[in-house]
Amino acid sequence: MRAQSYISTLASLLLPRLFFLPILQIAIGWPVDPTRGFTNLPLVNLTDYHIQKPYDLPVGDRYSFKNGVHRLWVYSTDNPLSKGSPTKPRSEIIINGYNYSSGVWQFEGHGYVPCGTSGVCVMQVFGASPHNTTLMLRVYNGSLYYYNESLLVPNIYDRWFKLNVIHDVNASRLNVYVDGDLKLEAPGRGGTFHYFKCGVYAQDNESFYMESRWKGIKVLKKCDI
Ligand SMILES: *[C@@H]1O[C@H](CO)[C@@H](O)[C@H](O)[C@H]1NC(C)=O
Ligand SMILES: *[C@@H]1O[C@H](CO)[C@@H](O)[C@H](O)[C@H]1NC(C)=O
Ligand SMILES: *[C@@H]1O[C@H](CO)[C@@H](O)[C@H](O)[C@H]1NC(C)=O
Ligand SMILES: *[C@@H]1O[C@H](CO)[C@@H](O)[C@H](O)[C@H]1NC(C)=O
Ligand SMILES: *[C@@H]1O[C@H](CO)[C@@H](O)[C@H](O)[C@H]1NC(C)=O
Ligand SMILES: *[C@@H]1O[C@H](CO)[C@@H](O)[C@H](O)[C@H]1NC(C)=O
Ligand SMILES: *[C@@H]1O[C@H](CO)[C@@H](O)[C@H](O)[C@H]1NC(C)=O
Repeated sequence: MRAQSYISTLASLLLPRLFFLPILQIAIGWPVDPTRGFTNLPLVNLTDYHIQKPYDLPVGDRYSFKNGVHRLWVYSTDNPLSKGSPTKPRSEIIINGYNYSSGVWQFEGHGYVPCGTSGVCVMQVFGASPHNTTLMLRVYNGSLYYYNESLLVPNIYDRWFKLNVIHDVNASRLNVYVDGDLKLEAPGRGGTFHYFKCGVYAQDNESFYMESRWKGIKVLKKCDI
């Protein structure tokens, strides 16, 4: 009850200013800026993120950073990230400087998946229970999927797309925006500890070669009211 009346008071105060524009934008189909109301956090290379790649290869064999673009690739015959791991091969940016267990967090990045890459996870929210992941965005046959379940965006190959993933931990809810359009609302999957990753992580029916590119990666946190 308290939360409800608080929310309705807040809504009546803010509705005219904050909520009208987004509602109008959704109504007439303008893309929204999902980062509104969030603070951008600094991302320091090797402190806040690093690369997970086949354990027997140097980073440079599966990752490059040129002109602001992170390029990550892997082959289906590669080794996992550590010796003896049952997981399939990956080359992923792990953002380990911003582990979180409450609050509202957001990943933003511009992604690119070259034609031919399939059966692969390109972005994940790690940490769930009993599963390992709260969210996986995968590419199968040229389309972007939520796990292997729902198709989010067809024809994703060979173009840059802007991805925003918002994770409201307390509400156990995730929103996924592609190019500013809300494509998915998904429930959380438990767990007490999360972080973001992007790159390529082989799943099922994977292609021999898998690659994704990322630029403008940001981690944002909702401002405290
Ligand atoms: C991060 O550091 C590694 C190792 O020094 C380097 O290879 C890579 O290019 C750096 N990445 C960025 C985004 O600066
Ligand atoms: C985040 O969690 C990972 C374990 O998965 C740990 O290695 C890392 O140090 C943690 N980062 C921070 C900033 O606590
Ligand atoms: C789940 O994550 C843990 C820790 O990163 C890892 O050891 C384990 O292999 C993962 N399991 C699967 C199925 O990915
Ligand atoms: C991808 O294509 C293969 C081969 O045509 C098919 O078996 C599979 O069901 C497709 N996957 C999805 C998720 O559409
Ligand atoms: C989707 O994944 C689940 C769990 O890994 C699996 O049981 C199911 O067969 C998969 N569905 C398809 C269409 O591949
Ligand atoms: C979110 O959950 C955490 C841990 O359960 C709690 O400490 C925090 O007060 C909650 N925040 C909100 C805004 O409900
Ligand atoms: C993987 O391939 C099998 C056999 O072609 C197919 O039945 C299954 O739906 C595929 N799974 C996905 C997620 O594409």
